[in-house]
Amino acid sequence: MNARVRDTLLVAGSANLDFVVRASHVPAPGETVLGREFATFPGGKGANQAVASARAGGVATRMLLALGNDGFARTIEHSLADAGVEMQVVRSVQPTGTAFICLSDDAENAITVAPGANSALLGNELSSLQGVSHLLLQLETPLEAVTAYALAAREAGVQVVLNAAPARALPTELLRSVDVLVVNEGELAAITGHHGSVAECLALLDCPCVVVTLGARGCCARQQARFFLQSGFKVQAVDTTAAGDTFCGALVATLHLGQPLPAALRYACAASALACTRLGAQSSIPQRAEVEALLRSDDRHAHPDEHVLAAYCGLV
Ligand code: RIB
Repeated sequence: MNARVRDTLLVAGSANLDFVVRASHVPAPGETVLGREFATFPGGKGANQAVASARAGGVATRMLLALGNDGFARTIEHSLADAGVEMQVVRSVQPTGTAFICLSDDAENAITVAPGANSALLGNELSSLQGVSHLLLQLETPLEAVTAYALAAREAGVQVVLNAAPARALPTELLRSVDVLVVNEGELAAITGHHGSVAECLALLDCPCVVVTLGARGCCARQQARFFLQSGFKVQAVDTTAAGDTFCGALVATLHLGQPLPAALRYACAASALACTRLGAQSSIPQRAEVEALLRSDDRHAHPDEHVLAAYCGLV
Protein backbone atom coordinates (compact mmCIF):
# COMPACT_ATOMS: atom_id res chain seq x y z
CA MET A 1 0.00 0.00 0.00
CA ASN A 2 1.31 3.48 -0.88
CA ALA A 3 1.94 5.45 2.32
CA ARG A 4 1.05 8.70 0.52
CA VAL A 5 -2.61 7.70 0.18
CA ARG A 6 -3.11 6.91 3.87
CA ASP A 7 -5.29 9.95 4.57
CA THR A 8 -7.94 8.40 6.83
CA LEU A 9 -8.19 7.80 10.56
CA LEU A 10 -10.51 4.88 11.29
CA VAL A 11 -12.24 4.46 14.64
CA ALA A 12 -13.91 1.11 15.32
CA GLY A 13 -15.95 0.97 18.48
CA SER A 14 -18.95 1.82 20.58
CA ALA A 15 -21.70 4.38 20.39
CA ASN A 16 -24.22 5.01 23.16
CA LEU A 17 -26.94 7.42 24.06
CA ASP A 18 -25.97 8.80 27.48
CA PHE A 19 -28.70 9.32 30.11
CA VAL A 20 -27.24 11.85 32.51
CA VAL A 21 -28.57 12.97 35.88
CA ARG A 22 -26.80 15.60 37.96
CA ALA A 23 -26.58 15.05 41.71
CA SER A 24 -24.65 16.32 44.71
CA HIS A 25 -22.57 13.16 44.72
CA VAL A 26 -22.31 9.74 43.09
CA PRO A 27 -24.28 7.19 45.15
CA ALA A 28 -22.41 4.58 47.19
CA PRO A 29 -23.55 0.92 46.83
CA GLY A 30 -27.07 0.60 48.28
CA GLU A 31 -27.53 4.39 48.49
CA THR A 32 -30.28 6.35 46.70
CA VAL A 33 -29.45 9.93 45.77
CA LEU A 34 -32.13 12.46 44.82
CA GLY A 35 -30.70 14.05 41.69
CA ARG A 36 -31.62 17.23 39.81
CA GLU A 37 -31.50 17.95 36.05
CA PHE A 38 -31.72 15.11 33.53
CA ALA A 39 -30.57 15.16 29.89
CA THR A 40 -29.53 12.79 27.11
CA PHE A 41 -26.34 13.24 25.07
CA PRO A 42 -24.74 11.28 22.22
CA GLY A 43 -21.83 9.33 23.69
CA GLY A 44 -19.95 6.03 23.69
CA LYS A 45 -16.18 5.89 23.84
CA GLY A 46 -15.70 5.06 20.15
CA ALA A 47 -18.09 7.70 18.85
CA ASN A 48 -16.70 10.33 21.22
CA GLN A 49 -13.17 9.60 19.97
CA ALA A 50 -14.29 9.83 16.34
CA VAL A 51 -15.87 13.24 17.02
CA ALA A 52 -12.69 14.43 18.77
CA SER A 53 -10.62 13.35 15.76
CA ALA A 54 -12.93 15.08 13.27
CA ARG A 55 -13.04 18.28 15.34
CA ALA A 56 -9.23 18.37 15.41
CA GLY A 57 -9.63 19.47 11.77
CA GLY A 58 -7.96 18.31 8.57
CA VAL A 59 -8.38 14.63 9.42
CA ALA A 60 -10.71 12.44 7.35
CA THR A 61 -12.35 10.41 10.11
CA ARG A 62 -14.33 7.22 9.47
CA MET A 63 -16.09 5.13 12.09
CA LEU A 64 -17.21 1.51 12.12
CA LEU A 65 -20.03 1.15 14.66
CA ALA A 66 -23.10 -0.94 15.43
CA LEU A 67 -26.48 0.64 16.13
CA GLY A 68 -30.03 -0.55 16.62
CA ASN A 69 -32.93 0.47 14.43
CA ASP A 70 -34.36 3.08 16.79
CA GLY A 71 -34.53 6.76 17.62
CA PHE A 72 -31.39 6.63 19.79
CA ALA A 73 -29.45 5.48 16.72
CA ARG A 74 -30.67 8.45 14.71
CA THR A 75 -29.56 10.89 17.44
CA ILE A 76 -26.07 9.36 17.41
CA GLU A 77 -25.85 9.29 13.60
CA HIS A 78 -26.89 12.94 13.49
CA SER A 79 -24.17 13.91 15.99
CA LEU A 80 -21.45 11.99 14.12
CA ALA A 81 -22.53 13.36 10.73
CA ASP A 82 -22.65 16.87 12.16
CA ALA A 83 -19.04 16.50 13.34
CA GLY A 84 -18.02 15.31 9.86
CA VAL A 85 -17.46 11.64 10.68
CA GLU A 86 -18.10 9.23 7.82
CA MET A 87 -19.97 6.18 9.15
CA GLN A 88 -20.04 2.49 8.35
CA VAL A 89 -23.01 1.24 10.38
CA VAL A 90 -23.71 -2.40 11.25
CA ARG A 91 -27.47 -2.45 11.87
CA SER A 92 -28.40 -4.76 14.76
CA VAL A 93 -31.73 -6.12 15.96
CA GLN A 94 -30.59 -5.18 19.47
CA PRO A 95 -31.34 -1.70 20.84
CA THR A 96 -28.73 1.01 20.44
CA GLY A 97 -26.20 1.06 23.30
CA THR A 98 -27.03 3.23 26.29
CA ALA A 99 -25.03 4.59 29.22
CA PHE A 100 -26.41 5.68 32.59
CA ILE A 101 -24.33 8.44 34.10
CA CYS A 102 -24.54 10.09 37.49
CA LEU A 103 -22.67 13.40 37.31
CA SER A 104 -21.66 14.87 40.65
CA ASP A 105 -21.27 18.55 41.55
CA ASP A 106 -17.50 18.10 41.68
CA ALA A 107 -17.58 17.08 37.96
CA GLU A 108 -16.89 13.39 38.61
CA ASN A 109 -19.11 10.61 37.34
CA ALA A 110 -20.09 6.97 37.62
CA ILE A 111 -21.11 5.22 34.39
CA THR A 112 -22.93 1.97 33.69
CA VAL A 113 -23.16 0.89 30.05
CA ALA A 114 -25.85 -1.35 28.53
CA PRO A 115 -23.94 -2.38 25.35
CA GLY A 116 -26.98 -3.51 23.27
CA ALA A 117 -26.10 -3.18 19.59
CA ASN A 118 -22.41 -2.61 20.38
CA SER A 119 -22.21 -6.37 20.97
CA ALA A 120 -22.91 -6.86 17.25
CA LEU A 121 -19.59 -5.33 16.20
CA LEU A 122 -17.94 -8.64 15.33
CA GLY A 123 -14.53 -9.60 13.93
CA ASN A 124 -15.74 -9.96 10.33
CA GLU A 125 -17.16 -6.43 10.07
CA LEU A 126 -13.88 -4.63 9.34
CA SER A 127 -13.90 -3.67 5.68
CA SER A 128 -10.97 -2.40 3.64
CA LEU A 129 -8.10 -0.66 5.39
CA GLN A 130 -7.08 0.98 2.12
CA GLY A 131 -6.10 4.59 2.80
CA VAL A 132 -6.13 4.17 6.59
CA SER A 133 -3.12 5.48 8.52
CA HIS A 134 -4.32 4.82 12.11
CA LEU A 135 -6.93 2.50 13.60
CA LEU A 136 -8.27 3.68 16.97
CA LEU A 137 -9.87 1.03 19.18
CA GLN A 138 -11.41 0.84 22.68
CA LEU A 139 -12.86 -1.99 24.79
CA GLU A 140 -16.62 -1.32 24.81
CA THR A 141 -17.18 -3.75 21.92
CA PRO A 142 -16.42 -7.52 21.92
CA LEU A 143 -12.77 -8.20 22.76
CA GLU A 144 -12.47 -10.89 20.04
CA ALA A 145 -13.40 -8.30 17.41
CA VAL A 146 -11.04 -5.66 18.83
CA THR A 147 -8.24 -8.24 18.67
CA ALA A 148 -9.15 -9.29 15.11
CA TYR A 149 -9.18 -5.66 13.94
CA ALA A 150 -5.82 -4.95 15.58
CA LEU A 151 -4.23 -8.00 13.97
CA ALA A 152 -5.64 -7.10 10.53
CA ALA A 153 -4.43 -3.53 10.85
CA ARG A 154 -0.94 -4.59 11.94
CA GLU A 155 -0.83 -6.94 8.92
CA ALA A 156 -1.81 -4.03 6.62
CA GLY A 157 0.84 -1.69 8.03
CA VAL A 158 -1.75 0.52 9.76
CA GLN A 159 -0.77 2.11 13.11
CA VAL A 160 -2.90 0.55 15.86
CA VAL A 161 -3.91 2.77 18.79
CA LEU A 162 -5.76 1.12 21.66
CA ASN A 163 -7.50 3.03 24.41
CA ALA A 164 -7.82 0.13 26.86
CA ALA A 165 -11.04 1.42 28.47
CA PRO A 166 -13.02 0.22 30.34
CA ALA A 167 -10.25 -1.38 32.41
CA ARG A 168 -9.50 -5.08 31.93
CA ALA A 169 -6.58 -7.43 31.45
CA LEU A 170 -5.57 -7.76 27.78
CA PRO A 171 -4.73 -10.87 25.73
CA THR A 172 -1.04 -10.96 24.75
CA GLU A 173 -1.83 -11.17 21.01
CA LEU A 174 -3.79 -7.91 21.22
CA LEU A 175 -1.10 -6.10 23.19
CA ARG A 176 1.55 -7.28 20.70
CA SER A 177 -0.40 -5.69 17.82
CA VAL A 178 -0.64 -2.26 19.43
CA ASP A 179 1.64 0.63 18.42
CA VAL A 180 0.24 3.19 20.86
CA LEU A 181 -1.55 2.23 24.08
CA VAL A 182 -3.54 4.93 25.91
CA VAL A 183 -4.66 4.21 29.47
CA ASN A 184 -5.54 5.93 32.72
CA GLU A 185 -3.93 4.84 35.97
CA GLY A 186 -6.65 2.28 36.79
CA GLU A 187 -6.39 0.74 33.33
CA LEU A 188 -2.58 0.68 33.59
CA ALA A 189 -2.88 -1.27 36.87
CA ALA A 190 -5.42 -3.69 35.34
CA ILE A 191 -3.17 -4.42 32.34
CA THR A 192 0.09 -4.79 34.25
CA GLY A 193 -1.40 -6.35 37.41
CA HIS A 194 0.89 -3.95 39.29
CA HIS A 195 -0.07 -1.14 41.68
CA GLY A 196 3.24 0.74 41.89
CA SER A 197 4.19 4.08 40.34
CA VAL A 198 3.43 4.98 36.72
CA ALA A 199 7.14 4.52 35.90
CA GLU A 200 7.19 1.03 37.47
CA CYS A 201 4.06 -0.02 35.57
CA LEU A 202 5.39 1.38 32.28
CA ALA A 203 8.57 -0.66 32.71
CA LEU A 204 6.42 -3.82 32.62
CA LEU A 205 4.89 -3.06 29.22
CA ASP A 206 6.49 -4.08 25.95
CA CYS A 207 4.40 -1.73 23.79
CA PRO A 208 6.48 0.79 21.71
CA CYS A 209 4.50 3.79 22.95
CA VAL A 210 2.33 4.02 26.08
CA VAL A 211 0.47 7.16 27.14
CA VAL A 212 -0.93 7.38 30.66
CA THR A 213 -3.57 10.03 31.29
CA LEU A 214 -3.50 11.48 34.79
CA GLY A 215 -6.73 13.50 34.96
CA ALA A 216 -6.20 17.16 35.84
CA ARG A 217 -2.49 16.48 36.43
CA GLY A 218 -1.86 15.94 32.68
CA CYS A 219 -0.19 12.89 31.18
CA CYS A 220 2.99 10.85 31.02
CA ALA A 221 4.19 8.93 27.96
CA ARG A 222 6.96 6.49 27.23
CA GLN A 223 8.06 6.12 23.60
CA GLN A 224 10.66 3.35 23.36
CA ALA A 225 13.06 4.38 26.17
CA ARG A 226 12.17 8.11 26.25
CA PHE A 227 9.70 9.67 28.69
CA PHE A 228 7.55 12.74 28.03
CA LEU A 229 5.47 14.70 30.52
CA GLN A 230 2.69 17.18 29.83
CA SER A 231 1.06 19.13 32.65
CA GLY A 232 -2.71 19.56 32.64
CA PHE A 233 -4.35 22.83 31.61
CA LYS A 234 -6.17 24.54 34.47
CA VAL A 235 -9.89 24.91 33.76
CA GLN A 236 -13.13 25.12 35.73
CA ALA A 237 -14.42 21.55 35.29
CA VAL A 238 -18.16 20.89 35.26
CA ASP A 239 -18.26 17.42 33.64
CA THR A 240 -15.30 15.10 33.04
CA THR A 241 -17.34 12.68 30.88
CA ALA A 242 -15.50 12.02 27.59
CA ALA A 243 -12.36 13.88 28.71
CA GLY A 244 -10.35 10.69 28.12
CA ASP A 245 -12.07 10.10 24.77
CA THR A 246 -11.33 13.66 23.70
CA PHE A 247 -7.68 13.09 24.63
CA CYS A 248 -7.51 9.89 22.54
CA GLY A 249 -9.21 11.29 19.43
CA ALA A 250 -7.20 14.51 19.56
CA LEU A 251 -3.93 12.65 20.18
CA VAL A 252 -4.33 10.27 17.24
CA ALA A 253 -5.56 13.02 14.91
CA THR A 254 -2.51 15.12 15.75
CA LEU A 255 -0.17 12.16 15.21
CA HIS A 256 -1.96 11.44 11.91
CA LEU A 257 -1.23 15.05 10.88
CA GLY A 258 2.48 14.32 11.36
CA GLN A 259 3.09 16.09 14.66
CA PRO A 260 5.73 14.65 17.01
CA LEU A 261 4.53 12.98 20.21
CA PRO A 262 5.21 15.93 22.62
CA ALA A 263 3.14 18.30 20.44
CA ALA A 264 0.36 15.71 20.16
CA LEU A 265 0.31 15.24 23.95
CA ARG A 266 0.06 18.99 24.48
CA TYR A 267 -2.81 19.35 21.99
CA ALA A 268 -4.64 16.34 23.48
CA CYS A 269 -4.28 17.64 27.05
CA ALA A 270 -5.65 21.05 26.03
CA ALA A 271 -8.58 19.49 24.12
CA SER A 272 -9.51 17.22 27.03
CA ALA A 273 -9.29 20.12 29.52
CA LEU A 274 -11.75 22.11 27.39
CA ALA A 275 -14.09 19.08 27.19
CA CYS A 276 -14.35 19.20 31.01
CA THR A 277 -15.75 22.74 30.92
CA ARG A 278 -19.00 21.69 29.21
CA LEU A 279 -21.79 19.20 29.81
CA GLY A 280 -22.15 15.94 27.94
CA ALA A 281 -19.90 13.73 25.86
CA GLN A 282 -19.84 14.67 22.15
CA SER A 283 -21.42 18.04 22.96
CA SER A 284 -18.36 18.96 25.05
CA ILE A 285 -15.61 18.16 22.53
CA PRO A 286 -13.86 21.31 21.27
CA GLN A 287 -13.06 22.42 17.74
CA ARG A 288 -9.41 22.97 16.75
CA ALA A 289 -9.73 26.79 16.94
CA GLU A 290 -10.76 26.61 20.60
CA VAL A 291 -7.88 24.29 21.44
CA GLU A 292 -5.41 26.53 19.62
CA ALA A 293 -6.68 29.56 21.55
CA LEU A 294 -6.05 27.74 24.84
CA LEU A 295 -2.60 26.67 23.64
CA ARG A 296 -1.77 30.25 22.65
CA SER A 297 -2.89 31.64 26.00
CA ASP A 298 -0.89 28.93 27.77
CA ASP A 299 2.24 29.85 25.80
CA ARG A 300 2.47 32.92 28.04
CA HIS A 301 2.96 30.82 31.16
CA ALA A 302 5.69 28.37 31.96
CA HIS A 303 4.69 25.09 33.62
CA PRO A 304 6.38 25.22 36.99
CA ASP A 305 4.69 22.00 38.09
CA GLU A 306 6.34 19.58 35.64
CA HIS A 307 8.85 18.42 38.27
CA VAL A 308 5.86 17.71 40.56
CA LEU A 309 4.40 15.57 37.77
CA ALA A 310 7.72 13.75 37.32
CA ALA A 311 7.81 12.98 41.05
CA TYR A 312 4.17 11.83 40.98
CA CYS A 313 4.99 9.40 38.15
CA GLY A 314 8.05 8.06 39.98
CA LEU A 315 10.44 9.44 37.36
CA VAL A 316 12.68 11.32 39.80
O1 RIB B 1 -16.01 7.76 28.13
C1 RIB B 1 -17.29 8.32 28.29
C2 RIB B 1 -18.32 7.42 27.67
O2 RIB B 1 -18.33 6.20 28.37
C3 RIB B 1 -19.72 7.92 27.75
O3 RIB B 1 -20.09 8.74 26.65
C4 RIB B 1 -20.54 6.65 27.85
O4 RIB B 1 -21.34 6.41 26.74
C5 RIB B 1 -19.53 5.54 28.07
O5 RIB B 1 -19.30 4.82 26.92
